[in-house]
Amino acid sequence: MAEKNIVETSEAQIAVHWGEEEFYHPTPEFVGQANLTDNAIFERFSLDNFPECFNEYAELLSWDKYWDQTLDTSDAPCFKWFVGGRLNASYNCIDRHLEKNKNKTAIHFVPELEEERIDHITYQELYVRVNEMAALLRDFAGLKTGDRVTIHMPMSAELPITMLACARLGVIHSVVFGGFSASACADRIVDSQSRVLLTMDAYYRSGKLLNHKAAADEACALARKEGQTVDKVLVWQRYPGKMSSETPLVEGRDFVVNDKLKEFYGARVEPVSMKAEDPLFLMYTSGTTGKPKGCQHGTGGYLAYVTAMSKYVQDIHPEDVYWCMADIGWITGHSFIVYGPLSLCASTVIYEGVPTYPDAGRSWRIAQALDVNIFHTAPTAIRALRKIGPEEPHKYQFKFKHMTTVGEPIEPEVWKWYFNVVGKGQAAIVDTWWQTETGGFLCSTLPGIKPMKPGSAGPAVPGIHPIIYDEEGNEIKRGEGRAGNICIQNPWPGQFQTVWGDRERFVKTYFARYNTKPDSKDWRDWPYLTGDAAMEAEDGYFRILGRIDDVINVSGHRLGTKEIESAALVVDEVAEAAVVPVAHEIKGKEPDLYIALKPGFEASNDLAQKISDAVCTEIGKIAKPRRVWIVPDMPKTRSGKIMRRVLGAISNKGDVGNVMTLANPDVVDAIKDLVESD
Ligand code: WT7
Repeated sequence: MAEKNIVETSEAQIAVHWGEEEFYHPTPEFVGQANLTDNAIFERFSLDNFPECFNEYAELLSWDKYWDQTLDTSDAPCFKWFVGGRLNASYNCIDRHLEKNKNKTAIHFVPELEEERIDHITYQELYVRVNEMAALLRDFAGLKTGDRVTIHMPMSAELPITMLACARLGVIHSVVFGGFSASACADRIVDSQSRVLLTMDAYYRSGKLLNHKAAADEACALARKEGQTVDKVLVWQRYPGKMSSETPLVEGRDFVVNDKLKEFYGARVEPVSMKAEDPLFLMYTSGTTGKPKGCQHGTGGYLAYVTAMSKYVQDIHPEDVYWCMADIGWITGHSFIVYGPLSLCASTVIYEGVPTYPDAGRSWRIAQALDVNIFHTAPTAIRALRKIGPEEPHKYQFKFKHMTTVGEPIEPEVWKWYFNVVGKGQAAIVDTWWQTETGGFLCSTLPGIKPMKPGSAGPAVPGIHPIIYDEEGNEIKRGEGRAGNICIQNPWPGQFQTVWGDRERFVKTYFARYNTKPDSKDWRDWPYLTGDAAMEAEDGYFRILGRIDDVINVSGHRLGTKEIESAALVVDEVAEAAVVPVAHEIKGKEPDLYIALKPGFEASNDLAQKISDAVCTEIGKIAKPRRVWIVPDMPKTRSGKIMRRVLGAISNKGDVGNVMTLANPDVVDAIKDLVESD
């Protein structure tokens, strides 16, 4: 059998299928106040006007020097935007608002414990704290423009303060999701060659104060083994003036930020004028093979794009109170908690804990207390809130004008609950489809212009021109009723610049598939492969069906199956591991882990637990397998390839199809018995 014909389980194959839904129209009240109601934007952003159309987005920012060239394609597909222009991201998110709005809240920090007071940080205070932190990073930690820094911090006001302090200096930050393990953090320290790590002693999650500092010690030890020494660990205190972690400080390496800052009180740091194409940050994401990729985002293009998306798709006005419930450790938080909203001078909410702590009403009490009017979350959270408190939103006085869903397809049923109960039938919903790599949205309705369609991300946003190809590279037209690989024909300013330190991987993963002229300097030859399967309906709305690669979307975030499998292989007894996505009521998908043992070992619950623990240690709890199935053997093709499709069908109680061509068809029944008898 040719390699090509071996069908692996992909998210797309087991994606939920649902029929076309009716349109929902935004209320006149919403449209009357919307930032964007002019249909002409699609004309202005047509391919005929590319790339100059994007100047309109860049003009939302304050530049030290205007750009000479909108798009430079000379190093395609590493595209450079707004070349010749200079700006600073921290200046754009803070300083430029001071004259008129210094007394306005920039950040509302909501601690998880309800008895603790909400901290309201004004733009002036943000300015002061970012400047002092920038001085500390420069003068105490010795960081300079172009250095990389790893930030492994929980949801806190100190996290954006640290990010913006880096941005002020042109130091490239790499934020690692706080819930990721020490080992995942170490990999990112090594790959980005960070010699400074920022962390926090502790944070609250589900009512417990977790020791977070311990992960820093372990991460440094692991990174050192791989040749990267961290010479300074800077520890923020959850409660300033007091250590909330029992893990001791390492003499000469660890320093308490809150103490050190005293030496920098009153310090002011001139924002470094960065080239538009200088990197602003790295954000690691999972891919098909090997280690996570460091997606490198640039300063001018990224900031212009997220500012425009925040304004036109999120409909953020300076007077809005905007709450994005994502974690800043993911791209959603970077773009739509920190950079986009602050660049627009909004008030952004940062919540420390879980949305259902201590009960199902918590999120709605926060919305009520702060009078939040724009709410942004993911289907996984919506499903959880709906499950444990379907009537809860009725009990609280809040009114959203706008709501977002992001991260994975949302089931129409869940969408309707979100619309009717959370949005009280009044809020415009945008279902935004995009990725870590894309910086900002690719598809979404423009809330003041286009009606909503449950379960469908909507048309492409202005300036994004998708095209769906089949396996052979033929275009699948709208309304054909077939799914294919969705690509974007043109570059856009939010697009990542490269994979950190690995241009070849960047080209191979995202462009090689449909590029026929590898030497071309014409952007038309470089369609961007998103890695998602999608269908375009007659009306031009895109329905995203899920990943085409070996990536599982858990709670709206990509986990590489290969990463989970290699984590399992760390356990001595394990010979082979295969991960498949299985549908989960709240998380969307969960990994199911199939294991074959080395000869001489017996299956046991203890061993299954050990393997599950290994996955949590290597990657983090987010990757915890639903089940670890220790099977007598893996179903394999005659050429020895593990048939994940068969395992996926068993886990999802589906049809395994014809397995007679396998090398070992009998094992399929044995595995089925094992899973079904459970
Ligand atoms: C993948 C990207 C975008 C920030 C959060 C996740 C899936 C994302 C949607 C949506 C259907 C979606 C895609 C995409 N996805 N948003 N609205 N509808 N699917 O970022 O971890 O880089 O994952 O999430 O499969 O490729 P990420």
